Amino acid sequence: MKKSEQFLKATKSKGATKTLKIAVDLQQHHNGELQAVDMGCGAGNDTNYSLSRGYIVFAFDSEPAAIDSIRDLENAKSGQSRFRSEVATFADVTLPSSDLVNAAFSLPFHGRKGVEELWAKIFRSIRPNGLFAVQLFGEEDSWKDRDDLFFVSSDELSKFCEGYKTEFYKEMKGPGKTAVGGSKYWHVHHFVLRKAIPDSVDT
Ligand SMILES: C[S@@+](CC[C@H](N)C(=O)[O-])C[C@H]1O[C@@H](n2cnc3c(N)ncnc32)[C@H](O)[C@@H]1O
Repeated sequence: MKKSEQFLKATKSKGATKTLKIAVDLQQHHNGELQAVDMGCGAGNDTNYSLSRGYIVFAFDSEPAAIDSIRDLENAKSGQSRFRSEVATFADVTLPSSDLVNAAFSLPFHGRKGVEELWAKIFRSIRPNGLFAVQLFGEEDSWKDRDDLFFVSSDELSKFCEGYKTEFYKEMKGPGKTAVGGSKYWHVHHFVLRKAIPDSVDT
């Protein structure tokens, strides 16, 4: 079985990511329908959760097997008019204007090249006052020598947060397991960021 298929199988029932749940709770009093995007949706646990909480969801992943599996999700089938999915990469995807962007443990897999452009693309797609739930890997992570991944330094963190207010932040470091059972040392920055509302212009 391919590594990506093992990952999908192992994470199929893991439930929604905590940062997504925090973001959804922060938007619970909003009137009207909200647009969410699930970037690198994997097995679709977060997509399913966002649909169950009433969002219109666009989910994408570069892995065709991931997109095949989320089309079978119950909430995706029952809420077809509110759900769209696509096989796409972070670099190539066209992001809709959104109230909530979720990128759970996925953006590090974009790699270092083009990360600033990707960050700017995400920023532009989020509506003022909208939320961005994201995990970034820190430089103490045991995968730090993998050049296909992106690791953020403490200095860069504040740059990435420019234009946002931090609603939630937690740095997590320690030994643990990967989704498929391997051992690794995790260094993860968990964020829920709120896009600032531009200052009103005095006339
Ligand atoms: C660690 S998994 C996280 C999946 C899911 N968000 C979760 O929390 O279970 C990373 C996901 O990002 C996807 N991915 C990796 N590189 C990508 C890229 N360049 N563009 C879009 N998706 C990508 C992978 O296929 C995988 O499903």
